[in-house]
Amino acid sequence: MNERKAQFFNAHLPNTLQPNSCGEAFAPSNIALAKYWGKRDYELNLPTNGSLSISLGTLGTRTTLKPADKDSVSLNGKSLSLDTPFAQKVIAFIDLFRRSQPLPLTIETHNTIPTAAGLASSASGFAALTLAINDLFNLDLAQTTLSAMARIGSGSASRSLWHGFVQWDKGEQTDGSDSIAQPIASNWRDLRVGLLALSHAEKHTTSRDGMTHTAETSPLFSVWPAQAERDKAQIHQAIVNQDFHELGATAEANALAMHATMLAARPSLTYFLPETLATIAAVQKARADGLPVYLTIDAGPNVKLLYLAKDEADIRHTFAGVACVNPFQ
Ligand code: DP6
Repeated sequence: MNERKAQFFNAHLPNTLQPNSCGEAFAPSNIALAKYWGKRDYELNLPTNGSLSISLGTLGTRTTLKPADKDSVSLNGKSLSLDTPFAQKVIAFIDLFRRSQPLPLTIETHNTIPTAAGLASSASGFAALTLAINDLFNLDLAQTTLSAMARIGSGSASRSLWHGFVQWDKGEQTDGSDSIAQPIASNWRDLRVGLLALSHAEKHTTSRDGMTHTAETSPLFSVWPAQAERDKAQIHQAIVNQDFHELGATAEANALAMHATMLAARPSLTYFLPETLATIAAVQKARADGLPVYLTIDAGPNVKLLYLAKDEADIRHTFAGVACVNPFQ
Protein backbone atom coordinates (compact mmCIF):
# COMPACT_ATOMS: atom_id res chain seq x y z
CA MET A 1 0.00 0.00 0.00
CA ASN A 2 1.24 3.47 -0.78
CA GLU A 3 2.87 5.01 2.30
CA ARG A 4 1.37 8.49 1.88
CA LYS A 5 -2.17 7.17 1.44
CA ALA A 6 -1.72 5.03 4.56
CA GLN A 7 -0.42 8.03 6.50
CA PHE A 8 -3.46 10.10 5.55
CA PHE A 9 -5.92 7.40 6.63
CA ASN A 10 -3.98 6.61 9.85
CA ALA A 11 -4.05 10.27 10.82
CA HIS A 12 -7.87 10.33 10.73
CA LEU A 13 -8.84 6.88 12.00
CA PRO A 14 -8.89 5.28 15.47
CA ASN A 15 -6.40 2.40 15.94
CA THR A 16 -9.20 -0.16 16.22
CA LEU A 17 -12.48 -0.07 14.30
CA GLN A 18 -15.70 -1.28 15.97
CA PRO A 19 -18.42 -2.18 13.45
CA ASN A 20 -22.16 -1.66 13.92
CA SER A 21 -24.47 -4.34 12.50
CA CYS A 22 -24.89 -2.31 9.27
CA GLY A 23 -23.58 0.81 7.52
CA GLU A 24 -25.49 2.41 4.68
CA ALA A 25 -25.29 5.53 2.49
CA PHE A 26 -26.41 7.12 -0.77
CA ALA A 27 -24.29 9.54 -2.81
CA PRO A 28 -25.43 11.37 -5.95
CA SER A 29 -23.61 11.29 -9.25
CA ASN A 30 -22.11 14.64 -10.34
CA ILE A 31 -21.30 16.43 -13.59
CA ALA A 32 -18.44 18.92 -13.60
CA LEU A 33 -19.27 22.35 -15.03
CA ALA A 34 -15.61 23.36 -14.58
CA LYS A 35 -13.62 20.18 -15.17
CA TYR A 36 -10.90 18.41 -13.21
CA TRP A 37 -8.28 17.37 -15.77
CA GLY A 38 -4.69 16.79 -14.62
CA LYS A 39 -3.08 15.60 -11.39
CA ARG A 40 -0.18 17.15 -9.52
CA ASP A 41 -0.02 14.04 -7.31
CA TYR A 42 -1.01 10.67 -8.73
CA GLU A 43 -1.21 8.75 -5.42
CA LEU A 44 -3.41 11.18 -3.53
CA ASN A 45 -5.37 12.35 -6.61
CA LEU A 46 -4.41 15.99 -6.07
CA PRO A 47 -5.49 18.05 -9.08
CA THR A 48 -3.62 20.69 -11.09
CA ASN A 49 -6.79 22.83 -11.03
CA GLY A 50 -9.96 23.25 -9.00
CA SER A 51 -13.34 22.12 -10.34
CA LEU A 52 -17.04 22.74 -9.76
CA SER A 53 -19.96 20.36 -10.27
CA ILE A 54 -23.71 19.91 -10.12
CA SER A 55 -25.09 16.71 -8.57
CA LEU A 56 -27.80 14.61 -10.22
CA GLY A 57 -30.43 14.34 -7.47
CA THR A 58 -31.63 10.76 -7.06
CA LEU A 59 -29.22 9.35 -9.68
CA GLY A 60 -26.27 7.88 -7.82
CA THR A 61 -25.10 4.95 -5.73
CA ARG A 62 -26.45 3.29 -2.59
CA THR A 63 -24.00 1.11 -0.65
CA THR A 64 -24.72 -1.22 2.26
CA LEU A 65 -22.01 -2.83 4.41
CA LYS A 66 -22.45 -5.64 6.96
CA PRO A 67 -19.90 -7.61 9.00
CA ALA A 68 -19.58 -11.17 7.65
CA ASP A 69 -17.34 -14.27 7.75
CA LYS A 70 -15.60 -13.32 4.53
CA ASP A 71 -15.62 -10.45 2.03
CA SER A 72 -18.28 -10.56 -0.69
CA VAL A 73 -19.17 -7.94 -3.28
CA SER A 74 -22.40 -7.52 -5.24
CA LEU A 75 -23.39 -4.95 -7.83
CA ASN A 76 -27.06 -4.24 -8.61
CA GLY A 77 -28.06 -7.49 -6.87
CA LYS A 78 -25.54 -9.66 -8.75
CA SER A 79 -22.74 -11.36 -6.82
CA LEU A 80 -19.26 -10.63 -8.26
CA SER A 81 -16.11 -12.71 -8.16
CA LEU A 82 -13.49 -11.03 -5.96
CA ASP A 83 -11.04 -10.97 -8.86
CA THR A 84 -13.21 -8.67 -11.01
CA PRO A 85 -11.78 -5.14 -11.39
CA PHE A 86 -14.85 -3.66 -9.64
CA ALA A 87 -14.53 -5.91 -6.56
CA GLN A 88 -10.78 -5.36 -6.40
CA LYS A 89 -11.16 -1.56 -6.45
CA VAL A 90 -13.82 -1.68 -3.72
CA ILE A 91 -11.79 -4.00 -1.48
CA ALA A 92 -8.54 -2.06 -1.97
CA PHE A 93 -10.38 1.10 -0.88
CA ILE A 94 -11.94 -0.57 2.20
CA ASP A 95 -8.46 -1.90 3.11
CA LEU A 96 -7.28 1.72 3.48
CA PHE A 97 -9.68 1.89 6.45
CA ARG A 98 -9.28 -1.69 7.79
CA ARG A 99 -5.47 -1.60 7.58
CA SER A 100 -4.32 -4.87 9.21
CA GLN A 101 -7.53 -5.44 11.20
CA PRO A 102 -9.49 -8.54 10.06
CA LEU A 103 -13.00 -7.14 9.39
CA PRO A 104 -14.64 -9.14 6.58
CA LEU A 105 -17.70 -7.47 5.05
CA THR A 106 -20.66 -8.04 2.77
CA ILE A 107 -20.55 -5.10 0.34
CA GLU A 108 -23.73 -4.39 -1.65
CA THR A 109 -23.68 -1.64 -4.28
CA HIS A 110 -26.76 -0.44 -6.16
CA ASN A 111 -26.50 2.17 -8.88
CA THR A 112 -29.68 4.18 -9.37
CA ILE A 113 -28.16 5.57 -12.56
CA PRO A 114 -29.93 3.79 -15.41
CA THR A 115 -27.30 2.13 -17.61
CA ALA A 116 -29.07 3.89 -20.47
CA ALA A 117 -28.02 7.27 -19.08
CA GLY A 118 -24.41 6.63 -20.14
CA LEU A 119 -22.96 8.06 -16.93
CA ALA A 120 -19.89 6.84 -15.08
CA SER A 121 -20.60 5.72 -11.52
CA SER A 122 -17.14 5.84 -9.94
CA ALA A 123 -17.69 9.29 -8.36
CA SER A 124 -20.94 8.35 -6.60
CA GLY A 125 -19.57 4.84 -5.95
CA PHE A 126 -16.51 5.93 -3.96
CA ALA A 127 -18.49 8.68 -2.21
CA ALA A 128 -21.24 6.26 -1.11
CA LEU A 129 -18.64 3.70 0.00
CA THR A 130 -16.80 6.32 2.09
CA LEU A 131 -20.05 7.45 3.75
CA ALA A 132 -21.17 3.85 4.38
CA ILE A 133 -17.80 3.06 6.03
CA ASN A 134 -18.18 6.19 8.20
CA ASP A 135 -21.63 4.91 9.20
CA LEU A 136 -20.59 1.27 9.80
CA PHE A 137 -17.71 2.15 12.12
CA ASN A 138 -19.30 5.23 13.76
CA LEU A 139 -16.30 7.27 12.63
CA ASP A 140 -18.12 10.58 12.83
CA LEU A 141 -15.56 12.19 10.52
CA ALA A 142 -15.96 15.76 9.24
CA GLN A 143 -17.53 16.02 5.76
CA THR A 144 -14.34 17.60 4.44
CA THR A 145 -12.25 14.65 5.72
CA LEU A 146 -14.70 12.21 4.12
CA SER A 147 -14.42 14.21 0.88
CA ALA A 148 -10.60 13.94 0.98
CA MET A 149 -10.88 10.17 1.59
CA ALA A 150 -13.35 9.72 -1.31
CA ARG A 151 -10.94 11.79 -3.48
CA ILE A 152 -8.26 9.15 -2.94
CA GLY A 153 -10.68 6.59 -4.45
CA SER A 154 -11.41 8.80 -7.47
CA GLY A 155 -10.87 12.56 -7.78
CA SER A 156 -14.41 13.40 -8.86
CA ALA A 157 -15.80 11.38 -5.90
CA SER A 158 -14.66 14.22 -3.61
CA ARG A 159 -17.57 16.26 -5.08
CA SER A 160 -20.26 13.55 -4.71
CA LEU A 161 -20.80 13.91 -0.97
CA TRP A 162 -23.37 16.66 -1.36
CA HIS A 163 -26.43 17.52 -3.42
CA GLY A 164 -26.44 20.69 -5.53
CA PHE A 165 -23.36 22.67 -6.58
CA VAL A 166 -20.01 21.58 -5.15
CA GLN A 167 -16.62 23.23 -5.53
CA TRP A 168 -13.37 21.26 -5.14
CA ASP A 169 -10.43 23.56 -4.49
CA LYS A 170 -7.12 22.29 -5.73
CA GLY A 171 -5.25 23.16 -2.52
CA GLU A 172 -1.53 23.79 -2.10
CA GLN A 173 -0.41 21.33 0.60
CA THR A 174 1.57 18.24 -0.42
CA ASP A 175 -0.47 16.00 1.91
CA GLY A 176 -3.74 17.13 0.24
CA SER A 177 -5.24 18.39 3.50
CA ASP A 178 -6.54 21.52 1.75
CA SER A 179 -7.61 19.79 -1.50
CA ILE A 180 -11.20 19.30 -0.43
CA ALA A 181 -14.65 19.80 -1.86
CA GLN A 182 -17.37 21.90 -0.26
CA PRO A 183 -20.99 22.62 -1.16
CA ILE A 184 -22.01 26.01 -2.55
CA ALA A 185 -25.14 27.35 -0.86
CA SER A 186 -27.56 27.71 -3.75
CA ASN A 187 -30.95 26.37 -4.60
CA TRP A 188 -31.39 27.00 -8.33
CA ARG A 189 -34.79 25.35 -8.61
CA ASP A 190 -35.36 25.73 -12.36
CA LEU A 191 -31.93 24.56 -13.54
CA ARG A 192 -32.03 21.21 -15.37
CA VAL A 193 -29.51 18.71 -16.72
CA GLY A 194 -30.29 16.57 -19.79
CA LEU A 195 -28.41 13.32 -20.37
CA LEU A 196 -27.87 12.21 -23.96
CA ALA A 197 -26.41 8.72 -24.07
CA LEU A 198 -24.74 8.23 -27.45
CA SER A 199 -22.74 5.08 -26.67
CA HIS A 200 -22.64 2.47 -23.89
CA ALA A 201 -19.25 1.03 -24.82
CA GLU A 202 -16.53 0.94 -22.13
CA LYS A 203 -14.24 3.90 -22.58
CA HIS A 204 -10.98 3.05 -24.35
CA THR A 205 -8.82 5.19 -22.03
CA THR A 206 -9.47 5.74 -18.31
CA SER A 207 -9.66 9.34 -17.08
CA ARG A 208 -6.46 8.70 -15.15
CA ASP A 209 -4.54 7.56 -18.24
CA GLY A 210 -6.11 10.30 -20.37
CA MET A 211 -5.04 13.00 -17.92
CA THR A 212 -1.51 11.61 -17.67
CA HIS A 213 -1.06 11.43 -21.43
CA THR A 214 -2.47 14.94 -21.93
CA ALA A 215 -0.36 16.50 -19.18
CA GLU A 216 2.79 14.82 -20.48
CA THR A 217 2.43 15.44 -24.21
CA SER A 218 -0.11 18.15 -25.06
CA PRO A 219 1.39 21.58 -25.84
CA LEU A 220 -2.01 23.07 -24.90
CA PHE A 221 -1.94 21.63 -21.38
CA SER A 222 0.31 24.41 -20.05
CA VAL A 223 -2.51 26.97 -20.43
CA TRP A 224 -5.27 24.68 -19.12
CA PRO A 225 -4.93 24.92 -15.30
CA ALA A 226 -5.11 28.75 -15.20
CA GLN A 227 -8.02 28.83 -17.67
CA ALA A 228 -9.86 26.16 -15.67
CA GLU A 229 -9.42 28.20 -12.46
CA ARG A 230 -10.84 31.29 -14.21
CA ASP A 231 -13.79 29.24 -15.52
CA LYS A 232 -14.44 27.84 -12.04
CA ALA A 233 -14.54 31.36 -10.55
CA GLN A 234 -16.80 32.61 -13.36
CA ILE A 235 -19.22 29.70 -12.94
CA HIS A 236 -19.29 30.25 -9.18
CA GLN A 237 -20.26 33.89 -9.77
CA ALA A 238 -22.92 32.83 -12.32
CA ILE A 239 -24.41 30.52 -9.65
CA VAL A 240 -24.50 33.39 -7.13
CA ASN A 241 -26.21 35.61 -9.73
CA GLN A 242 -28.37 32.75 -11.14
CA ASP A 243 -27.15 33.89 -14.56
CA PHE A 244 -28.00 30.91 -16.77
CA HIS A 245 -26.30 32.16 -19.94
CA GLU A 246 -23.06 32.91 -18.13
CA LEU A 247 -23.16 29.49 -16.43
CA GLY A 248 -23.94 27.59 -19.63
CA ALA A 249 -21.55 29.46 -21.92
CA THR A 250 -18.64 29.12 -19.48
CA ALA A 251 -19.33 25.42 -18.78
CA GLU A 252 -19.53 24.65 -22.51
CA ALA A 253 -16.32 26.55 -23.30
CA ASN A 254 -14.56 24.85 -20.37
CA ALA A 255 -15.54 21.34 -21.53
CA LEU A 256 -14.48 22.02 -25.13
CA ALA A 257 -11.16 23.49 -23.94
CA MET A 258 -10.51 20.33 -21.92
CA HIS A 259 -11.20 18.18 -24.99
CA ALA A 260 -8.94 20.47 -27.05
CA THR A 261 -6.01 19.73 -24.72
CA MET A 262 -6.57 16.02 -25.47
CA LEU A 263 -6.89 16.48 -29.23
CA ALA A 264 -3.54 18.30 -29.18
CA ALA A 265 -1.81 15.49 -27.23
CA ARG A 266 0.78 13.46 -29.12
CA PRO A 267 -0.51 11.03 -30.23
CA SER A 268 -3.90 12.70 -30.22
CA LEU A 269 -6.56 11.50 -27.78
CA THR A 270 -10.28 11.95 -28.15
CA TYR A 271 -13.37 10.50 -26.49
CA PHE A 272 -15.62 12.01 -29.19
CA LEU A 273 -17.55 9.81 -31.62
CA PRO A 274 -19.06 11.12 -34.87
CA GLU A 275 -22.38 11.26 -32.93
CA THR A 276 -20.74 13.50 -30.31
CA LEU A 277 -19.69 16.03 -32.96
CA ALA A 278 -23.16 15.87 -34.56
CA THR A 279 -24.73 16.56 -31.14
CA ILE A 280 -22.39 19.51 -30.47
CA ALA A 281 -23.51 20.95 -33.82
CA ALA A 282 -27.18 20.27 -32.97
CA VAL A 283 -26.90 22.06 -29.61
CA GLN A 284 -25.18 25.05 -31.15
CA LYS A 285 -27.80 25.21 -33.93
CA ALA A 286 -30.70 24.94 -31.45
CA ARG A 287 -29.14 27.83 -29.52
CA ALA A 288 -28.70 29.92 -32.65
CA ASP A 289 -32.39 29.23 -33.37
CA GLY A 290 -33.35 30.67 -29.97
CA LEU A 291 -33.42 27.67 -27.56
CA PRO A 292 -31.32 28.48 -24.46
CA VAL A 293 -29.30 25.24 -24.16
CA TYR A 294 -25.62 24.56 -23.47
CA LEU A 295 -23.58 21.38 -23.31
CA THR A 296 -20.81 19.72 -21.38
CA ILE A 297 -18.93 16.46 -22.08
CA ASP A 298 -16.77 14.33 -19.75
CA ALA A 299 -14.13 11.73 -20.61
CA GLY A 300 -16.54 9.83 -22.84
CA PRO A 301 -18.69 10.35 -25.95
CA ASN A 302 -21.96 11.27 -24.19
CA VAL A 303 -23.32 14.79 -24.07
CA LYS A 304 -24.98 16.50 -21.09
CA LEU A 305 -27.29 19.48 -21.65
CA LEU A 306 -27.89 22.46 -19.38
CA TYR A 307 -31.25 24.21 -19.71
CA LEU A 308 -34.07 25.77 -17.70
CA ALA A 309 -37.33 24.06 -16.65
CA LYS A 310 -39.45 26.35 -18.84
CA ASP A 311 -37.74 24.92 -21.96
CA GLU A 312 -38.10 21.24 -21.09
CA ALA A 313 -40.77 20.47 -23.71
CA ASP A 314 -38.62 22.02 -26.45
CA ILE A 315 -35.54 20.18 -25.19
CA ARG A 316 -37.38 16.83 -25.32
CA HIS A 317 -38.66 17.65 -28.80
CA THR A 318 -35.25 18.71 -30.16
CA PHE A 319 -33.12 16.01 -28.50
CA ALA A 320 -34.88 12.64 -28.83
CA GLY A 321 -34.17 10.23 -25.98
CA VAL A 322 -32.87 12.87 -23.55
CA ALA A 323 -33.16 11.88 -19.85
CA CYS A 324 -34.15 14.98 -17.88
CA VAL A 325 -32.78 15.49 -14.37
CA ASN A 326 -33.88 18.03 -11.76
CA PRO A 327 -30.78 18.40 -9.53
CA PHE A 328 -32.65 20.25 -6.77
CA GLN A 329 -35.64 17.90 -6.50
C1 DP6 B 1 -13.52 14.48 -17.28
O1 DP6 B 1 -12.42 11.48 -11.17
O2 DP6 B 1 -12.73 9.77 -12.98
O3 DP6 B 1 -15.04 13.62 -15.64
O4 DP6 B 1 -9.25 10.82 -10.19
O5 DP6 B 1 -8.33 9.37 -11.99
O6 DP6 B 1 -10.41 8.65 -10.76
P1 DP6 B 1 -9.57 9.82 -11.28
O7 DP6 B 1 -10.43 10.55 -12.40
P2 DP6 B 1 -11.96 10.92 -12.45
O8 DP6 B 1 -11.91 12.07 -13.57
C2 DP6 B 1 -13.01 12.81 -13.95
C3 DP6 B 1 -12.68 13.61 -15.15
C4 DP6 B 1 -13.83 14.34 -15.79
C5 DP6 B 1 -13.98 15.74 -15.23
C6 DP6 B 1 -14.59 15.90 -13.87
O9 DP6 B 1 -15.43 15.08 -13.44
O10 DP6 B 1 -14.24 16.91 -13.23
